[in-house]
Amino acid sequence: MKYENYPIAGLDFIFDKDGKPWFLEANSASTVHEEYAKVYGDCTTVKKIAKLINKMPGKNFCVFVKRKQWNGNSRNKAHWLASELIPFLNKDIHICYMDNNLRVARSFFLDHNFIKLTLTNFTKGGGNSYVLNSHRRKVKPDIIFRNYFQLNPDFEQEGVRVINTMAARDLVWFKHKCYDAVKEVKGIKIPKYFLVNNNEDLKTTLKDNTNLFNKGYVVKPLGNSLGRNVKVTDSLRMPMNYKVQPGSMVQQRITPKLVKKKKYWDVRVFVINGKYAGAVKRISKNKVTNIARGGYGDQVTKKLDRKLKNISEKITHALEKKALDMKKEKYNYILTPEQPKLREVVWHPIGEE
Ligand SMILES: Nc1ncnc2c1ncn2[C@@H]1O[C@H](COP(=O)(O)OP(=O)(O)O)[C@@H](O)[C@H]1O
Ligand SMILES: [Mg+2]
Repeated sequence: MKYENYPIAGLDFIFDKDGKPWFLEANSASTVHEEYAKVYGDCTTVKKIAKLINKMPGKNFCVFVKRKQWNGNSRNKAHWLASELIPFLNKDIHICYMDNNLRVARSFFLDHNFIKLTLTNFTKGGGNSYVLNSHRRKVKPDIIFRNYFQLNPDFEQEGVRVINTMAARDLVWFKHKCYDAVKEVKGIKIPKYFLVNNNEDLKTTLKDNTNLFNKGYVVKPLGNSLGRNVKVTDSLRMPMNYKVQPGSMVQQRITPKLVKKKKYWDVRVFVINGKYAGAVKRISKNKVTNIARGGYGDQVTKKLDRKLKNISEKITHALEKKALDMKKEKYNYILTPEQPKLREVVWHPIGEE
């Protein structure tokens, strides 16, 4: 099977006290490659991504970066990945500054926002599509390495190979949709969850499911990343000073066996072109173990590798298939909200997951 939608997967798993992996979520613009290189002393995952890109047809490889961060000394994690990738690529590399490529376009819905600004210089109608590279030269992209940000779906619709695709991104961004897409995977364990929109919903759900939640629970937004607004608790009580956002879930908490002086941990797995490419443990004194929340990387044992390989390849396969179906069903890369809310677009920084 070709992995055209989700060739670069980053999956999160947490291990319970019996050593069984539970699937937490998938990321469409995974970082953590930096931690991988650090703890194993070799950027294997970066090289594998480069190999994948080198096999793709076309010569113009475009990557979008934030000018100030790219040229300054505050490169973020997505910049790290892009700059490590470049020496391994046999393509024409075009660094494109996001602020050179902003144009007003029609509005479409993404990330709970109606986007009026989209990242594109794209002229519709075939053959005219281009972006501006850092020399302000017009380039027709063959491949766009899509870090985490809103990208005009027209690119893909006009044949540019965007990795990972918008379908893959939209699918995995929403955790409940992601779970739905993989729930038939044999041997997968997904923590049970209920959708909640406010504190009242949470209260009722906790009360109705005391058995599931009496050792603690997790509340998290359906669509977000970097551990933002994720609350992990120890008891059935309502959280203090926490406002449940509309579009959240309350989830069964999986408690790992603590390591290194009572630290929490989970695992980020990389699946590249459908093949297990390795994993990094994220260790933290916080229950939310994202690197952005203070977690740090560590190697996983061969035993954990073995437990993760098969299941992560199967999950990635199911997500690829689902994204493909979305395209076949003429999914228009727009997730229509039930109650659209127009608000100012917040540019998500790249390197978000
Ligand atoms: N069900 C859960 N049980 C225990 N810890 C969890 C659970 N869900 C999330 N966490 C912790 O919170 C972190 C962030 O959650 P995750 O679902 O990966 O969302 P995000 O997209 O913000 O990374 C996880 O890496 C893990 O440390
Ligand atoms: Mg995560």
